[in-house]
Amino acid sequence: MTDLVPIARSLFAEGKGILAADESVHTATARLASYGIPTSAEMRRKYRDLFFGAEGIEQFLSGVILFSETLREKGNDKKLFPKSLAARGILPGVKVDLGTEPISTSPEELITQGLLDLPERLAEYKKQGAAFTKWRAVIRIDGDQLPTASAIHENAKRLAQYAKEVQTAGLVPILEPEVLLEGKHSRARARAVIKEALTTLFSVLEEQSVDRASLVVKTSMALSGSESPRKDTPEEVAEDTLAALMESVPRQVAGIVFLSGGQSPDQATDNLGAIIRRAREVSAPWPLTFSYARALQDEALELWKGKEENVPAARAAYLDRLAKVSAALAA
Ligand code: 13P
Repeated sequence: MTDLVPIARSLFAEGKGILAADESVHTATARLASYGIPTSAEMRRKYRDLFFGAEGIEQFLSGVILFSETLREKGNDKKLFPKSLAARGILPGVKVDLGTEPISTSPEELITQGLLDLPERLAEYKKQGAAFTKWRAVIRIDGDQLPTASAIHENAKRLAQYAKEVQTAGLVPILEPEVLLEGKHSRARARAVIKEALTTLFSVLEEQSVDRASLVVKTSMALSGSESPRKDTPEEVAEDTLAALMESVPRQVAGIVFLSGGQSPDQATDNLGAIIRRAREVSAPWPLTFSYARALQDEALELWKGKEENVPAARAAYLDRLAKVSAALAA
């Protein structure tokens, strides 16, 4: 049996974190369109190559989460993406959930799909070179009404089943109950919901006897909602984020990674730095790092515009952002 703990721990190598490049076809299409880039399978491949083919990324990245389509594709160097990443010491991972759908009894809330044929798909992803996986659940805040306890619980049950199957298949699971930034809520409300989601998740993981030491938690930071006028300082974000995590995540987990969730690249960088400092102050027991999609990609996409001649400038902006986020880990 593969020992998953060292693989999970290697994602937290000093100064390194994860690039989440696992946008589904639907999300990648919308993301590229927002930069005026028309999409096609070839444009998506070039989009991935922009971020995976950049020289020097291995200084900053321990892992990359891929979309299943990308596992089978080749970079401009004619090498399969997972092989070329692994050759540079970057672990390839894969998103294995199949997206969300509304919950029939609470249609404003979402439940994540993808358990039905999961074992077969995991065997295939492993053959294709994946070492770890991700499953994203989505938790929406709306005043005191949402999330409902049952939406949190149903999503936790699926995350637990996912984690168990992934560990059985010899892969590391990342469990992501994402509390959305969208909304008018306060930072205190976000903190309480993050705590509730993670507390419920770990109670279900315990019931299902899922091994904690070889799993990674991916969480949102505690932030005021995107429609709230409140501008949180990094210190406020750090204090509330650590409070929620210290009250809910057992010390045995391999580590915790953060999503950027719609924060600007600078916000996601500054908040990470403050979180790392706060973690030291409160003697947080787990390693922490980033697992960002938008905060690492946005500046580069703005420059790239889907054009070959813009690749060097776009990659320079991406490497610059990677260096800043990595420096925040040593804050
Ligand atoms: P963002 O950093 O853009 O939030 O994406 C991270 C992620 O993996 C969401 O599932």
